[in-house]
Amino acid sequence: MEQTFLLVKPDGVKRQLIGNIVNRFEQRGFELIGAKLIRITREQAEYHYEEHKAKPFFGELVDFITSGPVFAMVWQGENIIQISRAMMGKTNPADAAPGTIRGDFASEVAKNVIHGSDSPESALREIANFFKPEELLTSTYLDGTADRSDDSPVSIH
Ligand code: GTP
Ligand code: MG
Repeated sequence: MEQTFLLVKPDGVKRQLIGNIVNRFEQRGFELIGAKLIRITREQAEYHYEEHKAKPFFGELVDFITSGPVFAMVWQGENIIQISRAMMGKTNPADAAPGTIRGDFASEVAKNVIHGSDSPESALREIANFFKPEELLTSTYLDGTADRSDDSPVSIH
């Protein structure tokens, strides 16, 4: 089962979009296996955006992502990396189709609401940057074939 790292950026948290974004991935049938609301360190941010180190906007990128709380998540599901990138929309909100997260909520490239891993290698690296193994579920709760016969009946008294 494929896993990915998704992060609601400080603009998305400030605009109270966490619920809407979580809802979209749940509705799509993906499974949340870890999540936390955190302030990320400069070191974590620089490592996260290492591939953009030489770009002129690198400083701005790190300043922005550390400017307020972010909501970090790990999700899993078949083809989740490709599908979640499609659900997020193009990097520049001007090019993002309506119906995508960026197409619905963002209007500038620096404040584009969400980050998502772009490959299985990035996902592994990004998950390890933000989560300890014990913070993630190791099993699925969405398996429709699960045998629930050993669940205890719930007492209302
Ligand atoms: P992420 O999921 O955030 O990694 O976005 P992406 O994979 O769609 O884009 P990319 O990795 O190429 O760029 C990383 C982030 O840099 C983008 O999400 C933008 O927020 C930001 N970014 C890209 N271009 C610019 C720019 O010209 N100026 C600024 N300030 N930020 C930019
Ligand atoms: Mg990227």
